[in-house]
Amino acid sequence: MTKLAIIGGTGLTQLSDLTIIKRDKLNTPYGPPSADFITGELNQNEVIFLARHGNPHTIAPHKINYRANIWGLKHLGVEQIVAVAAVGGITEKMVPAHIAVPDQIIDYSHDRFHTFFEDGNYPVTHIDFTYPYSQKLRSALISAAANANVNISPIGTYGCTQGPRLETAAEIKRMERDGCDVVGMTGMPEAALAKELGMDYATLSVVANWGAGKTDGEITMEEIEQHLRVGMANIMKLLKIIIACT
Ligand code: HPA
Repeated sequence: MTKLAIIGGTGLTQLSDLTIIKRDKLNTPYGPPSADFITGELNQNEVIFLARHGNPHTIAPHKINYRANIWGLKHLGVEQIVAVAAVGGITEKMVPAHIAVPDQIIDYSHDRFHTFFEDGNYPVTHIDFTYPYSQKLRSALISAAANANVNISPIGTYGCTQGPRLETAAEIKRMERDGCDVVGMTGMPEAALAKELGMDYATLSVVANWGAGKTDGEITMEEIEQHLRVGMANIMKLLKIIIACT
């Protein structure tokens, strides 16, 4: 059986319905991870859950110890990671509460520890990142959505910004010109680190709001939370299927 992990983002700090088997508090060569790694069962299927921003939700996107999180999952024998991430919608289909399974990334983040291959820990290695996500895992997520009758976008480009502030209207316009469909703050370096350690990694992006300047008025935390609640109900349907299939 393939060992699967879920990394939960904003709006998903715990997996409801999970029967907890054990909690691993790991010390990693990169420092402390975001939270305990929780191994549990959902409908008799085992899964490991990690709250990316901690539980409670206190670690800002640029402060997340991505290396400790990914190293910890690898150490626990995880082979596949489904990363759930709240995003802003940029292109037409990316309406609030919609879900996308991106196939590409543009990285606008900076000053994050973004590789394991430095400081003599490993030989310098340049991973191939042409296709940043695992096609196998993306296909499984897309099939799960079809089975659950949840309308998703099966492709899209995820633009990763530094945060924690939201973008300016001009930044979103630029990202749209660049080809981004959604904007989030945590997709990188998480995806690259997983690839460096040879793990299958794919993202379920949940649209929390329209990107800056796409609507009149301010983007509020209340709006984000409200759309995430709707989107997360569908995310849970997909996760239950994917956990049962791996
Ligand atoms: N921008 C970046 N990250 C986000 C957004 C956004 O508008 N919404 C949720 N995460």
